[in-house]
Amino acid sequence: MVMFNVTRKETAPIDGQKPGTSGLRKKIITKMAAANGVRRVWIGQNGLLSTPAVSAVIRERVGSDGSKATGAFILTASHNPGGPSEDFGIKYNMDNGGPAPEGITDKIYENTKTIKEYSIAEDLPDVDISAVGVTSFGGPEGQFDVEVFDSASDYVKLMKSIFDFELIRKLLSSPKFTFCYDALHGVAGAYAKRIFVEELGAQESSLLNCTPKEDFGGGHPDPNLTYAKELVARMGLSKSNTQDEPPEFGAAADGDADRNMILGKRFFVTPSDSVAIIAANAVESIPYFSAGLKGVARSMPTSAALDVVAKNLNLKFFEVPTGWKFFGNLMDAGLCSICGEESFGTGSDHIREKDGIWAVLAWLSILAHKNKENLDGGKLVTVEDIVRKHWATYGRHYYTRYDYENVDAGAAKELMANLVKMQSSLPEVNDIVKGIRSDVSKVVNADEFEYKDPVDGSISKHQGIRYLFEDGSRLVFRLSGTGSEGATIRLYIEQYEKDPSKIGRDSQEALAPLVEVALKLSKMEQFTGRSAPTVIT
Ligand code: G6P
Ligand code: ZN
Repeated sequence: MVMFNVTRKETAPIDGQKPGTSGLRKKIITKMAAANGVRRVWIGQNGLLSTPAVSAVIRERVGSDGSKATGAFILTASHNPGGPSEDFGIKYNMDNGGPAPEGITDKIYENTKTIKEYSIAEDLPDVDISAVGVTSFGGPEGQFDVEVFDSASDYVKLMKSIFDFELIRKLLSSPKFTFCYDALHGVAGAYAKRIFVEELGAQESSLLNCTPKEDFGGGHPDPNLTYAKELVARMGLSKSNTQDEPPEFGAAADGDADRNMILGKRFFVTPSDSVAIIAANAVESIPYFSAGLKGVARSMPTSAALDVVAKNLNLKFFEVPTGWKFFGNLMDAGLCSICGEESFGTGSDHIREKDGIWAVLAWLSILAHKNKENLDGGKLVTVEDIVRKHWATYGRHYYTRYDYENVDAGAAKELMANLVKMQSSLPEVNDIVKGIRSDVSKVVNADEFEYKDPVDGSISKHQGIRYLFEDGSRLVFRLSGTGSEGATIRLYIEQYEKDPSKIGRDSQEALAPLVEVALKLSKMEQFTGRSAPTVIT
C-alpha cells in the first residue's frame, strides 16, 4: 500500500468567501480530504457526476464496507460559463443529500476569516479516475480509500424506481413523437445518452451538445431562451428557424444537470407553469406519487400557478426564499413532495436537489399517460395542449423575468435601497404608479420577504422586495446570489388572468404595462445605466 504524509501549511484568510444562493463560486484548492480525517472518497468515473446524481449517491449508495457518505463536495460552474478563465465553484451537500443550510455555510464563512493553517497530503499519488475501482493508501490516521464508480448507475436505478420506463419507452420510440435534448455540453449529456437513448429508445440524433466538455464548449450552460440557442431554433422558437418541422418535445439542462427548460413545438413552458402542471398531473402519471402528494412548495419569486393547483387539490403549500436548500427541510419533515422555482429548477423528494433529467422524465410521463391510446391512431396530445388545458382549468399566470447581469454592485445596492425606502409610503407609491400607467391596479402591500422555516424555526430576512397589487399582480426585485461578476438584478413580473377568453395573449404584450411600471418605479436605467436587460425569460 502506498503511504502518504500530512503537511500543515501556514495560511491567512482570503476575503470574500461568503457562499451565495447555492455554494461559493470562487477558485478553490482541492485534494485535502486525505489530510483531514476523511477515510473514504467516492468519485464518479471521469470526475463526472451531475448535482442530482450526487444527491442520489449520498442518499442511496452503500459502499463495499457498508459505509454511507456523510456529505459531498461538488466542483462545478453550475449554470455559469466554465473553464480556466471562467467560473469554477464548490458546493457542499449534507448527509440528507441537500445543499448545506445557512447555519453551516455561515460557520464555514466564519472560519475563512480566521484560518491560519491547513493540512494537505501533498505526496498522495494521483488516482486514475477513468477506471472503476478502489485504491487504498495508508496515512498517519490509518487507511484512506479512493473509490471510482460508474456515474450513472445509482441514478438510473433511482429513476427506474420513480417512473414507468415501459410507458415512456412506448412514447419515445414511437415515430409519431419527436424529441430533442440539449445538454449544452454539460454533464447531463452522459445521463441523456444512457437514459433517453439506451434505456428509453430515443434516437441518438435527438441529442444536441451531449458530449460533456470542461469549458462547456465555450458556451453559457444555462437552459433558457437566450442561452440554449440551438435548441430554441430547432424547436421553431427563434428567428433563425430551421426549415425542418420542429420536434414535439424539447428540453435542456444546465452544466451540472439540476436545471431544466421544457419546450413544446414552437412553445415555451415557463418553469413556474411547469412545476404547477407536474403537480397537477403527478398522481395519475407517475408511479412514485400514486399514493398522493404530501405537499408542494415554490420559491417566493416563482409565479403563483402552483398555489392555485395546491388550493384546488387541497394540498399543503409552502412559499420559501430562493435557494433549493429551503425545500430540503420541508422534505425531510415529510411535508413536501414536489417543488419548483422560476429559475428553471424542478424536483421532488426523491433527492434533495432540483433535478433536470427528472423534470424531463416527469413531462414525458405526463405526455405518455395522456397519449396512451393515441400512439397507434388518434391525434397526439402535445405539450402546448397540456399547458393550454391547464390555463383553462386554473387560470394563467403571465410571467416574465428581466435580468440585469454584471451591473455595478454599488448601483445595484442603491436601487434596492431606494425600493425599500419607497415602501414606507404606499400612497406615494400609488401616485407614482398611476402617473406611469393608469391601467394597472393599485399597490396594496409592499415588503421585504422574510421566511420562518416551519421545521427548525430559523429566520431568513431580506429575501426580495415585493410590490403586491390589488388584482394579484406582483413585482419582485432581488439581487442574485449566484452570479460570479458584479451584481445581477432580477426583476420578476407576474399577472394572474382567470378569464378563459384572455388567457391566450402573448406574455410580453400582456405584461407590458406592469413592466413599464417596474422599470420606472425602480429607476432602473437611472441607477444602472442599462436601457435593456441582459436576459429575458
Ligand atoms: C441556484 C439555486 C436555486 C436558485 C438559483 C438562482 O440554482 O439552487 O435555488 O433559484 O440558483 O439563484 P439566484 O440567487 O441567482 O437568483
Ligand atoms: Zn446547476
